[in-house]
Formats: sequence, C-alpha cells, structure tokens
Amino acid sequence: MNKTDMLSPRANAEESTGQENSLRPQTLDDFIGQDQLKENLRVFIEAAKSRKEALDHCLFYSPPGLGKTTLASILAREMGVNIKVTAGPVLARPGDLAAMLTTELGDHDILFVDEIHRLNPAVEESLYPAMEDFTFFINTGKGPGSTTLKLAVPRFTLAGATTRSGLLTGPLRDRFGIVFNLGFYEAKELEQIVARSARLLKIEAHPEGVSEIARRARGTPRIANRLLRRVRDFAQVKGKGVITGAIAAQAMDSMGVDSEGLNDSDRRLLTALAEKFGGGPVGVETLAVAVSEEADTITDVIEPYLIKAGFLARTPRGRVAAKKAYEHLALKQPGNLLF
Ligand SMILES: Nc1ncnc2c1ncn2[C@@H]1O[C@H](COP(=O)(O)OP(=O)(O)O)[C@@H](O)[C@H]1O
Ligand SMILES: [Mg+2]
Repeated sequence: MNKTDMLSPRANAEESTGQENSLRPQTLDDFIGQDQLKENLRVFIEAAKSRKEALDHCLFYSPPGLGKTTLASILAREMGVNIKVTAGPVLARPGDLAAMLTTELGDHDILFVDEIHRLNPAVEESLYPAMEDFTFFINTGKGPGSTTLKLAVPRFTLAGATTRSGLLTGPLRDRFGIVFNLGFYEAKELEQIVARSARLLKIEAHPEGVSEIARRARGTPRIANRLLRRVRDFAQVKGKGVITGAIAAQAMDSMGVDSEGLNDSDRRLLTALAEKFGGGPVGVETLAVAVSEEADTITDVIEPYLIKAGFLARTPRGRVAAKKAYEHLALKQPGNLLF
C-alpha cells in the first residue's frame, strides 16, 4: 500500500479485516454527529416498530468513510432485525438477488447493498417489483420455451449506499422512501470520535493530540480513526506512548498530512489546477489526466472535501482553484480570482 492509499478515505484491507468493525458504533446513541439525520431516523424507526411494519427503503449517500455502512447496521439493531450485506458489483445476475431475497431474508430484515449505483441493469430492474410489491419475477429457460416465475419475497427493507445520489437511475432513486445525505463532520464531532476510539483502543491521548488529529481528518471519521492508529505508532516509537499535540502534529507531518488535513493527492490536484491550467476552469476529465487519477476518484473521493473546505469550486465550465488554495500552497495568485 502506498502512502496515498493509506490516507484515502476508501475502505482498505486493514478495515475489512475487522479493525474498522471494532470501532463501529452499534446504536444511534453511540453514533456521533449527523444530529438531524439521527432525529429523523429515530422517528421513522419508532413509527415502523409501533405499526409492526418493515422500515421503508433507505438510501444513504455521502463520500466514503462518513458512516453509511455503520448506519445500516445500526438500523438493523435498532429495528431488532437481521441484516444481510452485499454490494452492487457482487449481484451479477437477477438469480443472485432472487436467492438472497427468498432464502436469506426474513420479514422486516434489512438487505444492505453497498455501491448500489453499480448494480447491473437487469438486476436493478428485477429489484423494482421486489421493492414495491415484494414480488420477484424470474425467467427460466431461453427462447420460446421460457417461462416467467413469480416469487413472493419477505417484506424486507432495502438499505442502499452510494457516493453520489446522481449516480443512481431515476426509477431506483424514486423507490426509496427515505433518503439521507451524510455531510462532512465538524472538528468538534471528530474530536468526540477520536476520543471514543482512543478509549476503545486503550490509547492514551492528550486533548491537544485528539484535536490535532480531528483537525486533520478531512471531516471524515474513517480517516480520523486511521490517523489515530498511525499516530499511536509514532507515539510508541518516537515518544512515550502518549499522543500529545506535538507528537500528533509531527506524525501527521511526516505522513504527508498537512495542517489543513490535505494529503498528497489533494495537493497534487490543487497544484496542477493552479499551475497547469491557470487556476481553471478546467473539466474534471482533463484534470484527471494531468494528475493520473480516475475522474471518478476525483469526483467521489478527492474533491468533495476540497470544495467543502473552500479550496476548490465547481462551476458549469469546470473546476476552479480558490484563493485559499493559492494561500495554503504558497502559489503565485493570478489577478482575477473568482473564489
Ligand atoms: N458518526 C460516527 N460516529 C463514530 N464513528 C463513526 C461515525 N461514522 C463513521 N464512523 C467510523 O468510521 C468508520 C467508517 O464508517 P463507514 O460506515 O464504514 O463509512 P462508509 O460506509 O460511509 O464508507 C467506521 O468504522 C466507524 O467506526
Ligand atoms: Mg461503507
């Protein structure tokens, strides 16, 4: 894994081996921040439970690492039902979905489909009647002898996660009764998250160390937790095992996470935008080629935080570097800055 992968908000092997699960809040009370969303979710859960119904289908969208998977498992726990976890690219054929729906789910259970925008169109279409009428149509055989079977599926809840709601087709999006957009976390909330994780991992951290990590976490709990583990390594090897403000700052500096929490990819993108394209506007595809990233990675992973933090703006004609980017990277500013 290179340095950039380690600091990317996308999940990686370290997390899928269960390290991330150990830090996952299990209840809505444990889930820090997103107050409005939690309040609404509490109402929907209580109402569904008192009517003894399944929760309406829920769609969660946000950049990676902000809590979509965590919320889906909290939903199951708060509803007192089972959850089956899968992902768009895994459900290759309608038959795969039929098998999950008819044999693995019970009434009111949750089917969590991560990266739901990556369902293949045939699977997606077979999902519509399942979501709406709890029926599944499956074709058997080919040609003139083929028949369509109609299967009943339990009254399940579909929980979908995606990085951009705009990636979903209209018909799929319209079938979710509940849609939540998770925003980036405030520094105060990230401090609570880091402090909680430090407690769970039995790491001693001074308040200055905690806030230094929170401040550089790109508004993202997954990054905050990952920085905490890496800073702990530094504290063990270079300090006395305690995360102080100074150790935290030094550790993150040497990992290439700067005082604003920007990493190598962020800086390369902003520098290219400023130096190769005169600050923009430039299209994302062109920018992607210049920094050797995928356009989707820029749109889903890199730029949402840069926009939120005011380093970059998105205009109809393309991406534009903001004054804050020139100042932060100490680049020469053109005279006609718009942002
Ligand atoms: N609101 C939160 N409070 C505390 N920890 C959180 C919160 N949201 C996310 N996390 C932590 O961040 C990690 C990444 O969250 P996850 O739900 O996997 O993000 P996503 O599915 O959106 O990529 C989780 O392991 C969890 O420990
Ligand atoms: Mg996830």
